[in-house]
Amino acid sequence: MLHLNRRSIIQSASLLTSALWAGVVHPARAEEPLPARARLNVTENPFGPSPAARTAIAGCVPQAPYYVEDEHLLRDRIGQQENLERDKVALSNGSLDALSLLSTDIGRAGHILAPQPTYATHLNYAQRRGVAVRYVPLTAHAIDLQAMRRAITPQTALVYVCNPNNPTGHMLRHQELLAFCRDVSKTVPVIVDEAYFELLPDANGMTVAPLVHSGHDVIVARTFSKVYGLAGLRIGYILAQPPRVRQLYSLTTTSRNQAGFAAAVASLGDRHYLDGAIAYLENCRQMIYDICEKNGLSYLKSHGTFVYVNTGRPARLMEQALAQHNIDIRVFEAPAYETWIRVGTATPAELAMFGHALPLALKEVPKT
Ligand SMILES: Cc1ncc(COP(=O)(O)O)c(C=O)c1O
Repeated sequence: MLHLNRRSIIQSASLLTSALWAGVVHPARAEEPLPARARLNVTENPFGPSPAARTAIAGCVPQAPYYVEDEHLLRDRIGQQENLERDKVALSNGSLDALSLLSTDIGRAGHILAPQPTYATHLNYAQRRGVAVRYVPLTAHAIDLQAMRRAITPQTALVYVCNPNNPTGHMLRHQELLAFCRDVSKTVPVIVDEAYFELLPDANGMTVAPLVHSGHDVIVARTFSKVYGLAGLRIGYILAQPPRVRQLYSLTTTSRNQAGFAAAVASLGDRHYLDGAIAYLENCRQMIYDICEKNGLSYLKSHGTFVYVNTGRPARLMEQALAQHNIDIRVFEAPAYETWIRVGTATPAELAMFGHALPLALKEVPKT
């Protein structure tokens, strides 16, 4: 067990915190208590909701007795942002809901094709419902679009691409992804998961949403869970052709929640807030890079709220060793990545705990 020197961790975390938040201090995060466990296994954004979203959440209490019956306001706002009509926008309870329902429904006509490693929660959901998933390995840590094209057969019912990819954080070349989606979607629908879209250096220039505008069977999945800091309020959305939007609504079992809906409306496109959240997340990523370098570990530069790290040791053993020190990380099942762990951005205090625990865990687990 790591015997945490509570004071030293709080001191280093608060030093880091003040350095990190220079210029981007969030009003609701002045004090950061030392957590019992560091939750680096998830990819949330502890920067939290925007000030406008916080006000909207508190202000929606009178609506709590009622269902959200009319989603038009948020669908229209998203549509305006994307230059799309309302019938090309659907809301979902987190993007995972849309991804799971559509993957299962579309995929059952054959199989789903996806890169590996990638975000696979919805693919596992579809598999549990009898849908086959075929994986195409990455090449040089990037989704191999050529190999994915070659792997398409008449039985391929759906192609899934995550950009930037989780867990590698790698972003595809925009023109190559556009060409891939344009060609493939002529015969097979393509889901492009843009969960980390707002973090991209030129987000509007990197999205494949224009293909939805031009009528391609491309489903863009986005979420308010990540950069908007609303994971607990479960609001996501898709941009897609009207029949896909109707398909998703026909599969959806329940309506949106009032607090999530109000918070999403209040925060969408709030540039000032987004700039602060992005600066916070970029600094957290830098902390992880620094910790890796200090410990001689290689890692991939990331465009997401996580960093993929090569520990040089069996990842499952590293996961166990870190858990003994109250640090949770995530391991992805993928051949060729058996020594890699994904470290989520989390809070500076949690990352400071990771910085203290990592060298101990590295000593405890023999190299492969
Ligand atoms: C790539 C990617 N897509 C989708 C999701 C689902 O997020 P949510 O359902 O909260 O929108 C996640 C969450 O980790 C993710 O990493």
